Amino acid sequence: MATRNHLTFKATMVQVSVPATSANLGSGFDTLGLALELRDRYAAQVLDDATFDIDVTGEGSDEIKKDKNNLVIKAMMHGFEHMGQKPKGIALRQLNLISHGRGLGSSAAAIVGGLALARELVLGGDQLLTDEEMIRLGTELEGHPDNIAAAVLGGATIAWMQDGAGRAVGIKVDPRIKALLFIPEAQLATSKARKLLPETIPHHDGVLNASRAALLVHAIQSRPDLLLEATEDLIHQNYRAEAMPKSMALVTKLRSAGVPAVISGAGPSVMVLHTLDALEVEEVIKAGAGSFLAQEMAISTHGVQ
Ligand SMILES: Nc1ncnc2c1ncn2[C@@H]1O[C@H](COP(=O)(O)OP(=O)(O)O)[C@@H](O)[C@H]1O
Ligand SMILES: [Mg+2]
Repeated sequence: MATRNHLTFKATMVQVSVPATSANLGSGFDTLGLALELRDRYAAQVLDDATFDIDVTGEGSDEIKKDKNNLVIKAMMHGFEHMGQKPKGIALRQLNLISHGRGLGSSAAAIVGGLALARELVLGGDQLLTDEEMIRLGTELEGHPDNIAAAVLGGATIAWMQDGAGRAVGIKVDPRIKALLFIPEAQLATSKARKLLPETIPHHDGVLNASRAALLVHAIQSRPDLLLEATEDLIHQNYRAEAMPKSMALVTKLRSAGVPAVISGAGPSVMVLHTLDALEVEEVIKAGAGSFLAQEMAISTHGVQ
């Protein structure tokens, strides 16, 4: 039988901010992640009565559930359960900047933000819910560890599944590397994009991705000149092209011009990792004009705070 901790909840409202994340980075499917300096902000307080008082401003404010099925609330409850006790009710305020269903990790931000709120709301929560446990619990809700890892640790991350549990380590990012995002109007749910992946892949394609993902870890740390070769992928992006033809066309166009472009997460946003100057960036932005909102984003050196 699991032992129940009797927790002391803080009476005050606590606040967290959590970064957007881009996963896969081309070759590192379900493995590599990158935190981006675009943040959702959530505030929460424990309530004595069994109510969920939820207010959402910004991205998704019309669509997001305002009850116990809200993803931030679900993550908070998962975190409280892990620590040993759930509060009766919660007041939650969300200020969302990360757009939803674009491959920018909004679901991971909601989950990691919720877990961090739960940790902050408990006296001594830091000891009861470590970053490592946050990655494990977050992966249980998200289904894959790559965005969760980057949202918890910040910077660039390598994530993997070990005996069914999400695990991750952070890696250094060369300070010259910057990210440019092309965000389309249309959404694509990750669950839908995952259904397009095949059961098996050719051995040769697996080898190509393994070599490029290994190289990408080195390229991110200190060899940005290798980013184009290192982001090459044969195991996920092409299979999903039918769900995001414009995004794949942009990736192909940019890569043919020597620009390291990839589908961000499950898409349909496109991410370019580069060391270009402002004038060169202007040129690259023109390639997506009309169909995409181009946004430069710094790589976030820290995760959830
Ligand atoms: N801040 C949030 N609060 C509550 N739910 C959220 C929040 N952000 C995302 N979600 C949920 O996650 C869904 C998007 O997840 P997903 O399909 O994985 O796309 P993304 O690439 O944005 O993570 C949204 O439709 C919504 O249900
Ligand atoms: Mg997601």
